[in-house]
Amino acid sequence: MAKVTFQPDHLTHECEDGMMLIDICEEVDTALSFGCTEGSCGVCELTVLKGRENLNKFTEEEKEYLYEEDLENGMRLGCQLKIRKGEVTISWKGNRAK
Ligand code: FES
Repeated sequence: MAKVTFQPDHLTHECEDGMMLIDICEEVDTALSFGCTEGSCGVCELTVLKGRENLNKFTEEEKEYLYEEDLENGMRLGCQLKIRKGEVTISWKGNRAK
């Protein structure tokens, strides 16, 4: 089992290994929102506070949308995230246009 903590919601949710974050969000009452769901709008931008190693690699969409420095600092696009295993903690502030 994997575990995701949505820090702004003060919420932790257990899920199966390998689930997409966007699918997990359908099961929980989170304020994290999505727009295009295809990695092109940035509405789902978030920061991974813990467990980066437990996520999928950066997708082409993330490399296209986010700055390299942002990726290095833990920013990801929520709609592109897969929780491979273990514990992950995420946070977000709102939208930011590139
Ligand atoms: S929902 Fe548009 S980039 Fe994730």
